[in-house]
Amino acid sequence: MSEKKSGLTVFICAVALIFSVSAFGQKNVSQQKSNAAKSISCVNCHKTLGGELTKPVTEWTGSIHYQNGITCNMCHGGDPAATTMEKAMSKDHGFIGAPHGQAQFDACAKCHATEVSMYAKSLMGKAYLEGKGGPSCAKCHGPHHNVIPEVPQLCKSCHKDTTGFDQIDPMNVTPSTVQMLSKMKIKLGEQKVSGTRPAAAPKISEDLDPYKIGLVAFGGSIFVFILGYIIYLILEKRD
Ligand code: HEC
Ligand code: HEC
Ligand code: HEC
Ligand code: HEC
Ligand code: HEC
Repeated sequence: MSEKKSGLTVFICAVALIFSVSAFGQKNVSQQKSNAAKSISCVNCHKTLGGELTKPVTEWTGSIHYQNGITCNMCHGGDPAATTMEKAMSKDHGFIGAPHGQAQFDACAKCHATEVSMYAKSLMGKAYLEGKGGPSCAKCHGPHHNVIPEVPQLCKSCHKDTTGFDQIDPMNVTPSTVQMLSKMKIKLGEQKVSGTRPAAAPKISEDLDPYKIGLVAFGGSIFVFILGYIIYLILEKRD
């Protein structure tokens, strides 16, 4: 086998190795963060309480916040090192209880300031803050297992007509969105009359967590490795 060919094989194997090591490195960082998150007093006590007081722990475990080391106290305040309830959940340590209204926006804004200020200016955000039935952040994203909601399924709990809802940003509904939607409905009405149907836009799921990314990368690198080996065998045969 020539030097060129064995060089190529070594190169392919090295790429595969670096690829899989870096993917698992990423997984280990999130593993470390979630190990630290598991051992705070809020979690230790709440997981023993049962019912509605344990549900937040169950939902939060494994969530994107959990994976990123975002703990109970980062949203609720309090002292995660104190073991008694009075100390852990004391106002002196900034404990705010279950946040609603502006308090919920402030809690999320510590890390999602852009999203919060956009939503606060929107029609639904205002309707929430003014107590007029708009959805809270927790209503759409879940209070503890925060996810990107299914649109328009989620919207149907409050809206009868969800035409075009999959084509707008629900966090930025403004008067111009309403205008755009009504134009869209008029157009759809015309198309229905003339018999043509609009094509549905396909949606691609983007919620891969680091573990899945690690698995996919590992699978990918094994594939590349095998491919490299096959190329090696073919090249060697030709010699
Ligand atoms: C030693 C046990 C214990 C510890 C430690 C503890 N809690 Fe609690 N927590 C409770 C109990 C019991 C309740 C329900 C009674 C109450 O609300 O006073 C509760 C209630 C709550 C509530 C609901 C309050 C409301 O207004 O509905 C939140 C939020 C909460 N805890 C968050 C935390 C956070 C965050 C921490 C850590 C900084 C923490 N807890 C630490 C026992 C604990
Ligand atoms: C990302 C921010 C966030 C984190 C992290 C978080 N919470 Fe909450 N929690 C909320 C919000 C927002 C509410 C109010 C939800 C609502 O009323 O819809 C809430 C409500 C609660 C309640 C009141 C009962 C309920 O389910 O509404 C308890 C108890 C609670 N949280 C405990 C915890 C504990 C324990 C942890 C850590 C395991 C935790 N929370 C982590 C945001 C958070
Ligand atoms: C202490 C920081 C912090 C706080 C407070 C916080 N988050 Fe997050 N949040 C993060 C991080 C870190 C991520 C993951 C990295 C990213 O994509 O930004 C995240 C991701 C998210 C996502 C994306 C989920 C996905 O599947 O892509 C949503 C939705 C979310 N947070 C909602 C909230 C809501 C609602 C609140 C308030 C109740 C909140 N967060 C409070 C740090 C925080
Ligand atoms: C009416 C439902 C709804 C409400 C209310 C809502 N969101 Fe969202 N949010 C969504 C949807 C849908 C997406 C995904 C948007 C997209 O894919 O462009 C999203 C995306 C996000 C993301 C991820 C952004 C990204 O690019 O990954 C964060 C963080 C977030 N929202 C935080 C919040 C916070 C904080 C609040 C409250 C101030 C809030 N959301 C209120 C529906 C909502
Ligand atoms: C908890 C109930 C609730 C949920 C859930 C909800 N909305 Fe709304 N929405 C409202 C309220 C209340 C208004 C009226 C605000 C105003 O006009 O002042 C509104 C107004 C709107 C408007 C502008 C008026 C209209 O009907 O065209 C749009 C667009 C909209 N929402 C989209 C969405 C989308 C997209 C979702 C899902 C991701 C959603 N909403 C989920 C309560 C809700």
